[in-house]
Amino acid sequence: MSDYDLMELAKSMLSKAYVPYSKFPVGAAILCADGMVYTGCNIENAAYGPTICAERSALCKAVCDENLNIEKIAVVAETEDYCYPCGVCRQTLYEFSPNMKVICGRRDGEIRVHVLSELLPYAFGPVTLNDK
Ligand code: THU
Repeated sequence: MSDYDLMELAKSMLSKAYVPYSKFPVGAAILCADGMVYTGCNIENAAYGPTICAERSALCKAVCDENLNIEKIAVVAETEDYCYPCGVCRQTLYEFSPNMKVICGRRDGEIRVHVLSELLPYAFGPVTLNDK
């Protein structure tokens, strides 16, 4: 699946976001190595803290499906500039596939593509725990 096709699936999740507080919908779509796709949206909470980002809601679906080998993730909001994953999402995604592609979208349809390890340099990951 192309980066643009995955981005379209991420965009389709904007309307499903539960965002009564921020009114800031985010959509995400993950493509796994076996071709499976998992979509997500942000889900807010009255207590604010329990809010889950779109990227992590998609990731939870992939992990629950025992699909840990992620090829790429597309992220989009209704922003003029590219929407990048927050730090918590970068760390959470890094656990599974440090070299996944991260496709960031903006509302005019343009995309920018990165490798996750570039967005989270000198990361703490599973390898770190085994390095003692
Ligand atoms: N949000 C995401 O869904 N992904 C990110 O990477 C950054 C922020 C959500 C959380 C919250 O519902 C809204 O955007 C405003 O912060």
